[in-house]
Amino acid sequence: MTGRLQDKVVVITGAGSIAAGWGIGKATAVACARAGARVVAADIDGEAAAETARLVADAGGEALAVTVDVACPRSVEALAAAAVERFGRVDVVHNNVGIGRVGGPLDIDIEDWDRTHRTNVTALLIAARAFLPGMRERRSGVFLTTSSIAGQRYVGFPHLAYSVTKAAATHFTRMIAAQYAADGIRAVTIVPGLMDTPRIRLTVARAFPDLPFEELRHKRDQQVPLGTMGDGWDVANAVVFLASEEARYITGTELVVDGGLSLTMNGG
Ligand SMILES: NC(=O)c1ccc[n+]([C@@H]2O[C@H](COP(=O)([O-])OP(=O)(O)OC[C@H]3O[C@@H](n4cnc5c(N)ncnc54)[C@H](O)[C@@H]3O)[C@@H](O)[C@H]2O)c1
Repeated sequence: MTGRLQDKVVVITGAGSIAAGWGIGKATAVACARAGARVVAADIDGEAAAETARLVADAGGEALAVTVDVACPRSVEALAAAAVERFGRVDVVHNNVGIGRVGGPLDIDIEDWDRTHRTNVTALLIAARAFLPGMRERRSGVFLTTSSIAGQRYVGFPHLAYSVTKAAATHFTRMIAAQYAADGIRAVTIVPGLMDTPRIRLTVARAFPDLPFEELRHKRDQQVPLGTMGDGWDVANAVVFLASEEARYITGTELVVDGGLSLTMNGG
């Protein structure tokens, strides 16, 4: 395969999908492989990671599936070591895991709050420690993070832990960009809006138990100026660009992938 990520080694966390269909990490793994990258598909669900690796192989690419818990330093160190052992180096890490239960300050469970911070924010620190030293040595690397417009605005229902951690994820990524620019490392956040991925059936739908799922889907579509939710591929295509040399002058910023949603009064 030839493409804009030819021979790059890309590690994607949350590369499975929480349920059948195309999550963002799963689509990104296949899109990166189609662009010529060798892919490490990492997920806490080993079977989901393996399925993504199979899809990459079906697309003619090469992938290593790794079971990882991004919240656990030893697990992420093992991921980095496995990637280097198999492919020799890591050029791009895409920190794509994000969890969060719906709830506001009065009803949120503190353990859940802590778990969300650990998985969405502390995991970035863990990833930075595992991947930046190798990138710094080679004076080249890309550190990408999936945030959310929930990290910028109120999403119309209380999603506090998720929103706060997504805001922190964006700023964490900017800080990496500032500190490591001189080492040839870029760091960029992708900010998806309302995306039609398998997780919305499990997480967002829980916030609206009385609303039939298709109606919820329709409501999400209606909020978006371009007329529909996006999907995993919309984010995947943005990642391929940001990971590539074509984005070599882009760092310390965010790419919003939201169909214009954040332009609107109720967008969020
Ligand atoms: N779907 C949306 O509308 C939307 C909107 C904005 C941002 N996002 C963000 O995009 C990213 C991907 O979302 P998605 O909809 O594809 O979700 P998803 O839940 O389908 O995919 C996430 C994957 O992460 C894995 N995972 C969960 N905890 C993990 C851990 N501790 N270690 C390793 N893997 C773990 C899950 O097993 C799952 O396969 C998330 O960061 C999410 O917050 C999604």
